Amino acid sequence: MELALHGGTPVRTSPFPQWPQYGPEEEKALLEALHSRTWGGYHPAVRELEEGFARYQRLAHGVSCANGTVALEVALRALQLGPGDEVIVTPYSFVASASAILLCGATPVFADIDPHTFNLSPAAAEAAITPRTRAIVVVHFGGRPAEMDAFQQLARRHELRIVEDAAHAHGACWRGTPVGGWGDVATFSFQSFKLITAGEGGMIATNSATIADRCWSYCNQGRKQQGGWFDHFTLGSNYRITAFQAAVLNVQLRRMPEQTELRAANYAHLKAGLREISGLLLPEDDGRIERQPYYLLTFWYAPEAFGGLPREAFLEAMQAEGIPFKPTYPHPLYRNPLFVAEQDELSRRGWYPAQDYPRLQLPVAERVCREGVWLNHNALLGSRRDVDDILEALRKVQKLTPRGAARVL
Ligand SMILES: Cc1ncc(COP(=O)(O)O)c(C=O)c1O
Repeated sequence: MELALHGGTPVRTSPFPQWPQYGPEEEKALLEALHSRTWGGYHPAVRELEEGFARYQRLAHGVSCANGTVALEVALRALQLGPGDEVIVTPYSFVASASAILLCGATPVFADIDPHTFNLSPAAAEAAITPRTRAIVVVHFGGRPAEMDAFQQLARRHELRIVEDAAHAHGACWRGTPVGGWGDVATFSFQSFKLITAGEGGMIATNSATIADRCWSYCNQGRKQQGGWFDHFTLGSNYRITAFQAAVLNVQLRRMPEQTELRAANYAHLKAGLREISGLLLPEDDGRIERQPYYLLTFWYAPEAFGGLPREAFLEAMQAEGIPFKPTYPHPLYRNPLFVAEQDELSRRGWYPAQDYPRLQLPVAERVCREGVWLNHNALLGSRRDVDDILEALRKVQKLTPRGAARVL
């Protein structure tokens, strides 16, 4: 047996299930929207999506929009956050979780993540609270619900608002309540790789009629739902979703429960198999999580269990075996030039130095960006045999890597 990198036969040559998935139902829905000649955001499919998605998340209101970035910006605005307000956020997320805070004029304050969950640590968030703190953006990273009891308590104690960034967490459920039902408002993304998708798209969901009305208005040029077409009550924009997106998403929403179950079953198989393989660690299960969609798996990679093989070489070896492991984010959000080099641009936007971003060091976030490994959700959408291939490739790379190898080749 030889490593595929050395010319051996790869464990796997067939690809994992592709994403997105679609069938005749999406085609039919798209054609119906086409033939209706109502292609914009006022097609009945849009209302169907808003109601259906809110029902699925067990929330009272859904407001659809162009994407998950805009959804966050609108949600933060609806909480009336702006210049001078600090909003605590994880540094281990996509940029939108923090840039939306800046775009509404408020200041992101980064707090470290918990190494056991990869989510914002409630204790670190609490330590970052100042008299100016008004809200927390809680990201359910990779689809794993954050510790919402702790964040709720924090919010109550310090009179903070909570925005749940559930871009990865459609359908996730924490202690009997789906994500989105713990904070003031939640946002979702329907971007290409998300758990349901129309290429782009987003949703704001909430139990508050006031917040929902504000969000609808911001997404619809400041109109009111019952107002006239040319009556604009507040400063809004056009963030509407189209009929084509909504038509596809309605079908995708119906596919999701089965896909979520399949991923959960394959995840359990992977987790069980990993008990026999040292060096690749997934977060501990938590009995308070009732449903997890496993959008993105983050593993801790320990080179010492693979003969000292650095992470990049490990990834190369696994990819050659046909397993699409990837590195995590290259750096925490605050290491981006936006925060490090563009301080003038930030101050023009009402930012003030709540944190010295260029000097900021949040150790767990830094470490996971150096040592973490990702696997995307489509790897869990196949059969148990697909998962067996992942485990076999890991055993193979572990076995055939000589001690002290700096590289495989
Ligand atoms: C955690 C998180 N929040 C927000 C977004 C933004 O969503 P969109 O790409 O739909 O704008 C993303 C996108 O990947 C994300 O990962």
